[in-house]
Amino acid sequence: MVNKVRAAVFPVAGRGTRFLPATKASPKEMLPIVDKPLIQYAVEEAIAAGARKLIFVTGASKRAIEDHFDTDAELEQALTDSGKHDLLQSIQGIVPNGVSCIYIRQGKPLGLGHAVLCARPAVGNEPFFVHLADDLIAGSTGCLSQMAREYEDHGGSVVAVENVPPESTSSYGIVAVDTSNRSRITQIVEKPKPADAPSNSAVVGRYLLSGEIFDKLETIGEGAGGEIQLTDGIAALLDKSPVYAYSFEGVRYDCGSKLGYLQATVAYGLSHPETGDQFREHLRKVLAD
Ligand code: UTP
Repeated sequence: MVNKVRAAVFPVAGRGTRFLPATKASPKEMLPIVDKPLIQYAVEEAIAAGARKLIFVTGASKRAIEDHFDTDAELEQALTDSGKHDLLQSIQGIVPNGVSCIYIRQGKPLGLGHAVLCARPAVGNEPFFVHLADDLIAGSTGCLSQMAREYEDHGGSVVAVENVPPESTSSYGIVAVDTSNRSRITQIVEKPKPADAPSNSAVVGRYLLSGEIFDKLETIGEGAGGEIQLTDGIAALLDKSPVYAYSFEGVRYDCGSKLGYLQATVAYGLSHPETGDQFREHLRKVLAD
């Protein structure tokens, strides 16, 4: 029997350069898809998977995230006074009872591996989720819930993967797996050129990691792009402790890129109860012109 995963780490200290100027003063994780910021979708997915301790690793201009998950007494009073009870509920339920938020500052954006390492004092030696909010995954069961189920089955660590076009391998961590052993990862490489990639199975922004990763992250040093890479920490873990690749069910939108963000907006706009019908009609008209 493995322990339930209770901690979720949200690294939100990246610079978000692909989205400048929108991300100059506001983090990309606050970009909304219809009516919720990306980071709220992330938090909802983690809570649904059992997380009760939410750890945000923040950097410059991340105050908006803290404010979003904090109580806003003035706004709540104004919504109460104007009888807008649905809206009041929508802001009061953002962080349910029994769930706590912890904010840790990553002084300099030294890489995703470094951001995860910053969360060590709050996580301890427990297994934990890592969720990259700019990878939005739509599906009937949240990706982290699917991964938690896998983990309960066989322990170890689990990373979400999806096949990408061979020419795109240099944008991802790429894995090779042993298919005869529950897709246990045998090799993981950060951003390989297509000719050097061991497969086209790419790691996406969901991880369930054993606490053993922290010792590895302490010692790996700089990798690709001069950053401390989470991929390199996972590579160092492979011999010591099993890491499994998990092909999730759902559709992923890379909301760190402009095109992926627009695709997510269209998909969520079409399925939103308030906007769906009229938005569909509008798109039909636009596309017919
Ligand atoms: P990205 O590779 O998407 O980088 O980071 P970025 O800086 O956010 O965006 P671009 O490429 O400049 O547009 C992947 C994830 O790791 C976090 C980011 O916030 C994002 O969720 N990250 C990255 C950190 O928290 N700290 C870092 O030092 C680097």
